[in-house]
Amino acid sequence: MNMWKGAIEDAMQKIKQNIVKHPGKLPHITEGQQYEWGENNDWIEGFYVGMMWLAYEYGQDPFYKEAAESYLANFKDRLDRHVALDHHDIGFLYSLSAVAQWRVTGSDTARAVALQAADTLLARWRPHMEIIQAWGQADDPENGGRIIIDCLLNLPLLFWAHEQTGDAKYYDVAMKHALQSQKFLVRGDGSSYHTFYFDVNNGQAIRGGTHQGYQDGSTWTRGQAWGIYGFALAYRYTKHEAFLDTAKHLARYFIRHMAADAVVYWDFDVPVEESTPRDSSASAIAACGLLELLELIEDRDPDRLLFEDALHRSMKALVEHYSTMDLPDAEGLLKHGSYHVRGDRAPDDYMIWGDYFYLEALVRLEQGIKGYWYEV
Ligand code: GLY
Repeated sequence: MNMWKGAIEDAMQKIKQNIVKHPGKLPHITEGQQYEWGENNDWIEGFYVGMMWLAYEYGQDPFYKEAAESYLANFKDRLDRHVALDHHDIGFLYSLSAVAQWRVTGSDTARAVALQAADTLLARWRPHMEIIQAWGQADDPENGGRIIIDCLLNLPLLFWAHEQTGDAKYYDVAMKHALQSQKFLVRGDGSSYHTFYFDVNNGQAIRGGTHQGYQDGSTWTRGQAWGIYGFALAYRYTKHEAFLDTAKHLARYFIRHMAADAVVYWDFDVPVEESTPRDSSASAIAACGLLELLELIEDRDPDRLLFEDALHRSMKALVEHYSTMDLPDAEGLLKHGSYHVRGDRAPDDYMIWGDYFYLEALVRLEQGIKGYWYEV
């Protein structure tokens, strides 16, 4: 059995174990190498359901399909009651649950839930700044004019809604937000700000900053990874060449600054000591971004070998040194992810999005199965 296949088999087993052990529940940010199981009220619940869809597509075992489908009513109810949706991560939540279900099964119900989610995300559009507001209400004094780089992975839900309905409003918002993100979050050397502030009164750009990174001018590794994958996806949908260039620019920076073992620390600018936390989830997201880029760039692109080499080194390191293949009872797939090191929240633990992107990369490497960010 090759390395990817062995890792996938192990992941399938763990996903099944979790489904059986925690029926109807969803994993939350964890501490102590044990997921906390709860309700659908954070930004991360879609990843768990997305893993079930990947597992189903990989092995065609109906167990995973039935488990994934059983969550749709819950995701619909969350939208209807607007539970903890005062943020932009509606794309993360619904691309991997409702869009995924529609894509795999053709369910009209799932399609309708996904379109309802796209409308909910659209309500966060702030036209005078040409941004989708990341967090809080429009009149929030701290966050009213704030974007974060993570939002690039929320845009596929809007691009998808445009394809489905033909309504240009979804495309225009996603395109304009991507352009603002490119202009203000990406720096000249290919590094990135985690967040950027605009003036809610006159729409003027104010400054870059961070929320989960080491300090305002530093490069939070997960943010950089969201940027690689997010701009590649924006290019896939729009064919706007500059998005592809930006994704490549971010990828080269990421690769140049990877640690010697090809897995990143939590921030590229943090002083590294023995106890400095890693973020395996950032490396898993970047691997998915590189897989996407490798499909989008020309065969003779000068970056092809660099990207291929980095992808394989990172994935090999994740499987061999960060996976829980040596821990059959573990709930997570990847050790040493970090959520919010500076805020002292889960600095070294399982991250459900790390698990999702690790599995997405593995099944793409092994069987060409893609995630649920666009129609294939
Ligand atoms: N999107 C939030 C995070 O990456 O932690």
